[in-house]
Amino acid sequence: MTIPEIFETMDYGTAPESDAEARAWIAKHDGRFGHFIGGSFTNSGETFATRNPATGEDLAQVTQGSADDVEAATNAARKAFPRWSKLSGHQRARHLYALARLLQKHARLFAVLETMDNGKPIREARDIDVPLAQRHFYYHAGLAQLRDSEMPGHVPHGVCGQIVPWNFPLLMLSWKIAPALAAGNTVVLKPAEYTSLTALLFADICREAGLPKGVVNIVTGDGATGAALVDHPDIDKIAFTGSTEVGRRIREATAGTGKALTLELGGKSPYIVFDDADIDSAIEGLVDAIWFNQGQVCCAGSRLLVQEGIAENFHARLKSRMGNLRAGDPLDKSIDIGAIVDPIQLARITELVDGNTDGETFQPAIDLPVGGCFYPPTLITGLSTASHLMHEEIFGPVLVSSTFRTPDEAVEIANNTRYGLAATLWSENVNLALDIAPKLAAGVVWVNATNLFDAAAGFGGIRESGFGREGGWEGLAAYLKPDIATKPVKSGGPATPAHEEFDGIDRTAKMYIGGKQTRPDSGYSTQVLSPRGKPLGHVGRANRKDLRNAVEAAQKAAGWGKTTGHLRAQILYYIAENLSARAGEFADRLADLTGKPAKFCKSEVETSLEHLFTYAAWADKFDGSAKSVPIRGVALAMHEPVGVIGAFCPEDAPLLGPISLLAPAIAMGNRVILVASETAPLALTDLYQVLDTSDVPGGVVNILTGAHGELAGPMAGHMDIDAVWSFSSASISTEIEKTAARDLKRTWVNHGRNPDWATSAGHGKRFLQAATEVKTIWVPYGE
Ligand code: NAI
Repeated sequence: MTIPEIFETMDYGTAPESDAEARAWIAKHDGRFGHFIGGSFTNSGETFATRNPATGEDLAQVTQGSADDVEAATNAARKAFPRWSKLSGHQRARHLYALARLLQKHARLFAVLETMDNGKPIREARDIDVPLAQRHFYYHAGLAQLRDSEMPGHVPHGVCGQIVPWNFPLLMLSWKIAPALAAGNTVVLKPAEYTSLTALLFADICREAGLPKGVVNIVTGDGATGAALVDHPDIDKIAFTGSTEVGRRIREATAGTGKALTLELGGKSPYIVFDDADIDSAIEGLVDAIWFNQGQVCCAGSRLLVQEGIAENFHARLKSRMGNLRAGDPLDKSIDIGAIVDPIQLARITELVDGNTDGETFQPAIDLPVGGCFYPPTLITGLSTASHLMHEEIFGPVLVSSTFRTPDEAVEIANNTRYGLAATLWSENVNLALDIAPKLAAGVVWVNATNLFDAAAGFGGIRESGFGREGGWEGLAAYLKPDIATKPVKSGGPATPAHEEFDGIDRTAKMYIGGKQTRPDSGYSTQVLSPRGKPLGHVGRANRKDLRNAVEAAQKAAGWGKTTGHLRAQILYYIAENLSARAGEFADRLADLTGKPAKFCKSEVETSLEHLFTYAAWADKFDGSAKSVPIRGVALAMHEPVGVIGAFCPEDAPLLGPISLLAPAIAMGNRVILVASETAPLALTDLYQVLDTSDVPGGVVNILTGAHGELAGPMAGHMDIDAVWSFSSASISTEIEKTAARDLKRTWVNHGRNPDWATSAGHGKRFLQAATEVKTIWVPYGE
């Protein structure tokens, strides 16, 4: 188009970005890449083509990583770990700073290469992906500097295996590598098979920055390479971003191995527009929510919920806006919509949309480039909340829409999903917005804005969107572990009965569900013996039905999460007060159950009281924070309760163990279902009366007795339990992690090793962190 023609038609001209430097960089590597292992590129092996999805052109050949390549990279990372982890925070900060500076110096090259390999508009790669990647390294240079002073008592995991998707190749690499290095880990990263080039360019700048060899290793390849990395025995932590399906597989594969795991998975995030919203802004926001990166965004606002009264007007204006979107060559600076990453993804989107018979599908009459992977912006209105496409992640430029009448209904529909990554809401009424934000089941909520990200603000999901946060101090914590001593859990098993006469009135402890003592559904009970075989009483053997009843009771007590920290503190103090009044009785019980000297047992009761005080103290002090993000506004990191937590109590401290789990959980507003120690359950069953007299609302604490092996699977598989903790044996940990893969429940297990509950390892912030989710609520200021 000539300039006179542009003036005549008032149309956009093209503004193509040059690809010369990117092509020169590829040519410098002869268009063939090996892996980056131990500080240098390996020779290329068996290769596959990485393509430009806008043209179908082969850009370069990339090596398919074998198990041997993964082994070599892991060995290089292991070799580099001792020196890297022993550097001071300041020394690591210098390295991260050097990487940030080089990302900045090569910003345009990264942006162009990303656009060529991925198909995203250069405007986005240049203004969003690359600046955010730089920001991540700068921010984490700071976290490296401060780690030693601000997070004492923590050590890095070791070698981290990191697997990233194709939608934000460089940005996701930064989200993974920067915190891992800041914390003192070394890494093996596998980029997605469609988009390996910017990771390989990053490898080049690691060399240029003088990063010690082996600290960062990049192995390219497809899912098989990823699986080899997950399975490698010398990997200490896996961090994965990608599909929920693969996330589930990784959860199963790592179950019981002791590998730490964070998963950032899919979403179907609601975009709620109330009738008092600024409609123009909400529509412009939608452009960023669902047409940013062609909708290939895990947190895309892909589920539009509009209040009924404005729906018609809103959809009409939205359609008109869609008609003004420009699709075209991704390297053209004036286009809005680029190419879908690969023909496979294009086929997936097409199939989902074509297979839908519900509602009304609208696609504006805009020009799409011929050839290449392009898909038009699409709006599907009039869907019922049950429609398939209201629940399925399409991962393309397709917005589905439904309406709601009241704010309560908006929350109900918004939360009616297996995912929980992000949510957006638009309203000019600050009271309404701040009432709704905490009610949304999501790790991130944007108020009157959307898709805001920053290195200082945690990002991550709940439910099947995964667990763990990236960004901020909470993201750094995921790359560290507490430096505490643990010892193997004793698997003593029940004592042999000594055929002693039972010298009292028979007592069979019931279970404690919904504030009431209940008999086991199974009708079975188990004898409890002292270590010498003296009969001490009986406890019921819980089955699935008892568990279901306990879950139901816990669900009914949801109001506990909305009480104030002050009230929860009062109740914890009251539990302590009532336990203290019966300290002697509990100490005697412990002496019977454990055979330990009276002095030890008294001390266990005293420490239990101390822990109750500790968590009463924390109940109104484990604050969230306001993150220092580079916008005019705030990003609030709110600490929310996880929900219903199931916990298997340790054998080694029959009273202190359960108190150490129960107290932080309820202090943070959770409801718990505790399964008592198998060998010494009576210390916990004695607690019923203490709970009854301490104003603990029914259903907040539920206690089951029985075989851990029989309850671990049902507990981890129960859809209405939000997290499962275990301080029981190693096999229980494995069973929980494996079964939790079904709904990607959050787990916290001991792999058969416990801390000494009476020391600082047995209480403190890590318990509070396990009992909370961080929800980031973004609220920009101004009109
Ligand atoms: P994917 O989850 O298969 O790929 C993501 C990464 O995982 C890639 O690096 C891939 O090579 C690797 N991978 C695949 N199988 C693996 C395994 N068994 N073990 C270890 N690593 C493995 O995603 P895919 O197939 O590219 O896209 C499929 C769908 O997933 C999309 O349509 C979209 O719905 C969703 N998706 C979601 C993303 C998100 O950020 N939430 C990102 C990418 C895809």
